[in-house]
Amino acid sequence: MNNLKSVGILGTGSALPEKILTNFDLEKMVETSDEWIVSRTGIKERRIADENTATSDLSYEAALKAMEMAGVTAEELDLIIVATVTPDMAFPATACILQDKLGAKNAAAFDLEAACSGFLYGITTGQQFIATGMYKKVLVIGAETLSKITDWTDRGTCVLFGDGAGAVVLGEVEEGSGILSTDLGAKGEGGKYLTQPAGGSRKPATIETVNNKEHFIQMGGGEVFKFAVRIMGQGAETVIKKAGLELEDVDYLVPHQANIRIIEAAAKRIKLPMEKVKVNLDKYGNMSAASIPIALDEAVSEGKINKGDHIVLVGFGGGLTWGAALIKW
Ligand code: UT7
Repeated sequence: MNNLKSVGILGTGSALPEKILTNFDLEKMVETSDEWIVSRTGIKERRIADENTATSDLSYEAALKAMEMAGVTAEELDLIIVATVTPDMAFPATACILQDKLGAKNAAAFDLEAACSGFLYGITTGQQFIATGMYKKVLVIGAETLSKITDWTDRGTCVLFGDGAGAVVLGEVEEGSGILSTDLGAKGEGGKYLTQPAGGSRKPATIETVNNKEHFIQMGGGEVFKFAVRIMGQGAETVIKKAGLELEDVDYLVPHQANIRIIEAAAKRIKLPMEKVKVNLDKYGNMSAASIPIALDEAVSEGKINKGDHIVLVGFGGGLTWGAALIKW
């Protein structure tokens, strides 16, 4: 055995804007239908942040809940990681804005960008600091206000996304429990299929980039779909194997909430019936990095996850990236 510490989730929390945008509302905005959206994606409605709400605001609300459940104070936090593609601004990091709001004066803070896989990249990163003994308590957030970078005239994307934030506090847990294995990956050549092209150093903001709608999400949905169906099952299988477990040892799956057809394919691949799979995309749509921690928080508060259960988290997204984790709760 090595002398690394076992790391687990001590508390979860989530936050959602109040405003609901239904498929019927979208029917009035673009050429679409509730029937098309439900049958192709499973999404019925999503939450939309108001103009005064930024990603750090939702992060703050989710963080307080996770810290309360974990019994951890702001001063006890050693590190804050915010996974997001919709930071409050390019810099300072949203994690630094959050550190200030929380009064977490002893915490280092940085943002991490791995799109929808961001939360899994985040907990894997946080785990390393605690496993080695460098830090004791790490706050990991997945938070997005995708509505702010959505082209509300593009029916191919605007029906998919929503806003929200999910948080966990990571800390040391009893040996042999917590995060048993993780798997992260990237396929950079597929990056072009999911992108917000302008606003960075390649294409700084100009009147033209604004007029060309290059500050909005652009997606090749079919390509992302094919990648997702393959990688979700593969990622889940990999972490099960790495943890030395069999498919039948898995008690619950918390997948990224992009499309019900992608989730069903992943569940089938690891032979898990859908009643053991968390699905909330009907209510919230795809919230990128926020989807998995919000789904996890809901599953915990619904009593779907119990001590000793083996949980698989798996996601995919822009990059293209993927991530998976097997957690003994
Ligand atoms: O977190 C990662 C983010 N991205 C994803 O997860 C996206 C993964 N991809 C998907 O979920 C699916 O590819 C979509 C839901 C985006 C699209 O579903 P699809 O079954 O792949 O549809 P499609 O793109 O092949 O489009 C089929 C038809 C097209 O019309 P034609 O060319 O057959 O006449 C589209 O123009 O559906 C049309 N269409 C729509 N119709 C009504 C596309 N979007 C809409 C819409 N309402 N909102």
